[in-house]
Amino acid sequence: MIQLPGLIDPHVHLREPGATHKEDFDSGTSAALAGGVTIVLAMPNTKPPIFDADTLDLALNAAKQKARCDYGQYVGAGPDNSDWTSHKAESDRAAGLKMYLDSTFGELRLDDMTLWSPHFANWPKDLPIVAHSESRSMAAAILFAAIHDRPVHIAHISLKEEVLLIKAAKERGIKVTCEVCPHHLFLSKDDIPAISHGHPGRGEVRPRLATKEDVDALWKNMDVIDCFATDHAPHTISEKDSDNPPPGFPGLETFLPLILTAVHDGRLTMDDVIAKLHTNTKRIFNLPEQPATWVEVDENAQYEIKASEQFTRCNWTPFEGWKVRGRVRKVVLRGKTAFEDGKILAEPGYGKNIRFFN
Ligand code: NCD
Ligand code: ZN
Repeated sequence: MIQLPGLIDPHVHLREPGATHKEDFDSGTSAALAGGVTIVLAMPNTKPPIFDADTLDLALNAAKQKARCDYGQYVGAGPDNSDWTSHKAESDRAAGLKMYLDSTFGELRLDDMTLWSPHFANWPKDLPIVAHSESRSMAAAILFAAIHDRPVHIAHISLKEEVLLIKAAKERGIKVTCEVCPHHLFLSKDDIPAISHGHPGRGEVRPRLATKEDVDALWKNMDVIDCFATDHAPHTISEKDSDNPPPGFPGLETFLPLILTAVHDGRLTMDDVIAKLHTNTKRIFNLPEQPATWVEVDENAQYEIKASEQFTRCNWTPFEGWKVRGRVRKVVLRGKTAFEDGKILAEPGYGKNIRFFN
């Protein structure tokens, strides 16, 4: 048995408000605890999107009633809400600012670069900006961070050209950090037929699964990758198998077992795990210490991933049938056993907003 600190997932979609048939703060934070995750940062591309005081209230009220682990809620950058200097109350309550600079699921997207500057200028420098920006738009986001002399965190990098550019930017002292998702480390576009089971929508995710060469480049440049994040993006199996399948994979419950299997295979070290699922994430996102919080994992337990055993409401996983190693036995969150042997023990409402911790 090994003991890990509470894991942090800085990129989840909990679908509340607006799409609670896919997930909500209750089912999503249950999935988190089952995966050993004690802090989730929830994305703002909900219905309505979270982008002002009223919509932030909606999400935070739902989270307060229902979350079983600790949480933060991002606000989204829109065309009309960049006046963050006069909306300090919102920025103080949020996990960070999410900027959608590329194709995505939902309504939040900033196509015009003139809309980017006021967000980079006005969002508080000690709070994170997370950019969904792929390839060239990622290069542009890094340039904006350099011009405004502030940090930017690049969500879910997946390409060789991206990891190499971030490496070069870091070497020049630009304040850029990045995350990688397990599905971009363990799957390539060659795996799409096996995931799909005849339903091509199941292989749809943004960023798309990349080439083997891209996947290899991520592994080779592991020291450039600051943290791991799931981009837990649940959609129901009937939505995935429809004529207009939304992109996204669930990931909270497969996160740690996939990573620990890579440790077992000698591709990662336990130091990598602690740095990229806890220490670095905590630093980048300016998160509080969770006292008396830890995760007990049976690192040798071998089992098969089955969607039917998961707490996520979406009821499928791209990793169905994968044989993995490492099972979460127990999660203690702020002195209370929150999960043990397959049972969620923390009540809805036990979770706290990481921006109002004390
Ligand atoms: C995300 C979703 O479903 O909300 N989908 C995805 O493929 N990652 C949206 C996103 O993060 O772009
Ligand atoms: Zn996402």
